[in-house]
Amino acid sequence: MSKLIIKNVSELVTCRGRAPKHGKDMSDIGLIKNGCLVIENDTIIDVGTKEILKNYNEEEYQVIDAENKAVLPGFIDSHTHLIFGGYRAEEFSWRLKGDTYMSIMERGGGITSTVRSTRNTSDEEFISLGIKRLDKILDMGVTTVEGKSGYGLEKETEIRQLKAMKELNEMHPVDIVPTFLGPHSVLPEYKGKEDEFINLMIDLLPEIAKENLAEFADIFCEKNVFTIDQSRRFLTAAKDAGLKLKIHADEMYRLGGTELAVELGCTSADHLLQASDEGIKQLSESNTVATILPATAFCLKEEYARARYMIDKGCALSLATDFNPGSCFTNSIPLVIALAALHMKMTIEEIITALTINAAAAVGRSDRIGSIEKGKKADIIILEYPSIHFLPYHAGVNIVETVIKNGKIVRG
Ligand code: NIG
Ligand code: FE
Repeated sequence: MSKLIIKNVSELVTCRGRAPKHGKDMSDIGLIKNGCLVIENDTIIDVGTKEILKNYNEEEYQVIDAENKAVLPGFIDSHTHLIFGGYRAEEFSWRLKGDTYMSIMERGGGITSTVRSTRNTSDEEFISLGIKRLDKILDMGVTTVEGKSGYGLEKETEIRQLKAMKELNEMHPVDIVPTFLGPHSVLPEYKGKEDEFINLMIDLLPEIAKENLAEFADIFCEKNVFTIDQSRRFLTAAKDAGLKLKIHADEMYRLGGTELAVELGCTSADHLLQASDEGIKQLSESNTVATILPATAFCLKEEYARARYMIDKGCALSLATDFNPGSCFTNSIPLVIALAALHMKMTIEEIITALTINAAAAVGRSDRIGSIEKGKKADIIILEYPSIHFLPYHAGVNIVETVIKNGKIVRG
């Protein structure tokens, strides 16, 4: 049995809770000064001030002295496009010169170009690329990551992407929550035949569900991609097949994907740059988590989502990177923290909630991860500095020193 005590923690951030935190509750991070926690095997068995230590014989434990260090739940990146082949660096340069994401897509670039390269990427390459990407995010304190398919747009490659994530999940300390994003784009051969394409994607759902290849289904609901009706049809079929739901909603145009997410009981609605006041009101009254992706807005030079307004209206927000080869080729949690603090008027407490317990809720795992409390998985990070305020202050720099995954020290 492995036994670990972390003591003298200058700021122990518990984020306790088993459900997403809405509005003002996002500020409640359950901070304990001079805190201490006890781990046995992969589970947290006790949390508190140094008083709790008298119940344990420290000699039986590996002890980490975290004096002058802050300790938090491991970060959860709740929206990434983890598995893809090829890159689109030249496209990024075109955008810097004035091209838009949508105009490139309409010319057959964008997602279509990654679909071509992903179809030509072998299973072995998916695994070696995946390990490199997971290693990098683990360094930044990510202990669970959501990963989408969506660069195959046909059976074989979609399934290969999902299987690669399953294999990586077994091989690597970072847990992967797989999402089937078959309806991610419309290839030129399906222009005008989007309904037919949706049917093909619906046909894949029973096998994906039966083989446990995905926990979530997702769709890119957007002007010139998939309509509200097509999104409703696909997501309803996914729900019937037993999958939980996510949606890329109201990113470039206000189609009403936010309202659809609430209507269908999606676990999360993601992007939301153009979400309407009414959509935000509905979100705030629902259990759907609003997943905000500031690095995408940054890389696309778009206005940021109205995070401050959403929190003030009572929504539950999570923050994620949206790591992908096109709109946002970054998996930097420090960048996301900096943008949320400096450009979206989120406080550091709200940012931490959005990267831990609310992100856990966005991947349907808030009963198991996302907080430091009795009974939860011991996914924990130790910072190089004594206070959470160093996270936005040391802008864009990784200050995670030690990462504990399932009770084991995997970094530091
Ligand atoms: O979340 N918006 C759609 N999908 C991705 C972009 C994928 C890509 O450009 O390859 C996103 O930003
Ligand atoms: Fe995305």
